Amino acid sequence: MRLQTRASTLSPEFAHMLMTTLLPRLQSTMRRCSLNIQMLLDLCSSWISHYPAEKTWSHVSITGMNEYELEQNKQADDYTVRDLNTDPKLPYDDQSFDIVTCTVSFDYLCRPLEVMKEVGRVLKVGGMVLLSTSNRCFPSKAVNIWLQTGDMEHVLIYGSYMHYAGCFDAPEALDLGGPLSRLGFADPVYVIRAKKSS
Ligand SMILES: C[S@@+](CC[C@H](N)C(=O)[O-])C[C@H]1O[C@@H](n2cnc3c(N)ncnc32)[C@H](O)[C@@H]1O
Repeated sequence: MRLQTRASTLSPEFAHMLMTTLLPRLQSTMRRCSLNIQMLLDLCSSWISHYPAEKTWSHVSITGMNEYELEQNKQADDYTVRDLNTDPKLPYDDQSFDIVTCTVSFDYLCRPLEVMKEVGRVLKVGGMVLLSTSNRCFPSKAVNIWLQTGDMEHVLIYGSYMHYAGCFDAPEALDLGGPLSRLGFADPVYVIRAKKSS
């Protein structure tokens, strides 16, 4: 299914640059999380979904704003163009996914709690949402609270979306940045994740 929306101003080149450093660490986290799962959904997706190269699942759905980027995504089985700020409803059935991801992008959503409740709706019980973040963004696109806060607060903000959605176990955060990022020599990488409650 494709829904029309206005094109994103985020360029594929920027996403590529950002992901060069994050990709291996995100992929290894995804590899650990994606064993024995079938259905994946990547929100605010683009030409890449950061899933491991070896396919251990049956289906990947993606949504995002830029159709040109989405149609380049080789890991996706289907895509939907959707501006979640205009319409936060996800175009999928209840309990249809094992894992929902959103990589360095949830900070662009101005109705994050509505989207997170939708994530809870489309996840199967026991399924997991994973939001990842670093320390870069498009200031003209990110929500105001993101621009006024730092890395640790960003982790708490994502965790609070999961908490207040009301359908997840307590969220946890992984610091994937390693010693170099803690010393300021590399970008930080955080993954905030929570399981849908039974
Ligand atoms: C920095 S890029 C990251 C793309 C991808 N997640 C990745 O890791 O390469 C931000 C993405 O968020 C998407 N995006 C921004 N605002 C959005 C919105 N309101 N609804 C849906 N997608 C949005 C853009 O289309 C863009 O692909």
